[in-house]
Amino acid sequence: MIKYEQVICLRLRNLKNTDEILNTCEFLITDSSKYKGKWKELFGNDNPIYIEIGMGFGKFIYENALKNPNINYIGIERFDKVIARAIKKFDKRLDNLYIIRMDAMEIENSFDKEVDLIYLNFSDPWPKKCHAKRRLTSKLFLDEYKNILKDDGVIIQKTDNRHLFEFSLESFNENGFLIKNICLDLHKDEERFPDNITTEFEEKWMTEGPIYYLEAYKR
Ligand SMILES: C[S@@+](CC[C@H](N)C(=O)[O-])C[C@H]1O[C@@H](n2cnc3c(N)ncnc32)[C@H](O)[C@@H]1O
Repeated sequence: MIKYEQVICLRLRNLKNTDEILNTCEFLITDSSKYKGKWKELFGNDNPIYIEIGMGFGKFIYENALKNPNINYIGIERFDKVIARAIKKFDKRLDNLYIIRMDAMEIENSFDKEVDLIYLNFSDPWPKKCHAKRRLTSKLFLDEYKNILKDDGVIIQKTDNRHLFEFSLESFNENGFLIKNICLDLHKDEERFPDNITTEFEEKWMTEGPIYYLEAYKR
């Protein structure tokens, strides 16, 4: 946990004007409940909807949106300063990308069964057993994801944290998801994952040890 918090705090030390950045951003949504069931109207098309929960500084979701204009992307993040830094880093406004400021605990209020894919990239591991419910793959969250994913929807998880990965495998399994395409060292298996787009945390930790990967299907 310290590792994750330290990186974020160090990078945010010098960030000023957070309120101004957030208040003037046209693609930041603070009341996402009003779009529940209506995201296609906001995007103005029927393209698939992919979301990243805990997008951090947004490298992954921005590069995906740039590369795949026929997919609609929504990045979810709960901390203002983190969002402000992400917005500052984006080179230009993309029609297929929005950010929601929200805690993932409230995700059910923002989407109907309209999400095709959820990315969970380097989610906080919450190592203490007493905090297990806060992990983004705990039953509490998986029950919410089931209510926002389409019937054939999928969750893709990447993490450097073996304990979180093991916990997630069990949790997906116990909660009715079908797990496929497990990989225990993503960067040593580039033939299988030639199009992998790295996240900020992935760049930081991929030289220190393996990156774990899985896909969990709603069925
Ligand atoms: C370790 S960082 C990883 C960031 C990014 N996905 C990456 O791989 O570089 C985890 C991020 O998830 C966010 N986060 C954690 N729990 C969250 C929640 N319940 N709702 C929204 N964001 C959350 C944190 O604020 C943090 O920015």
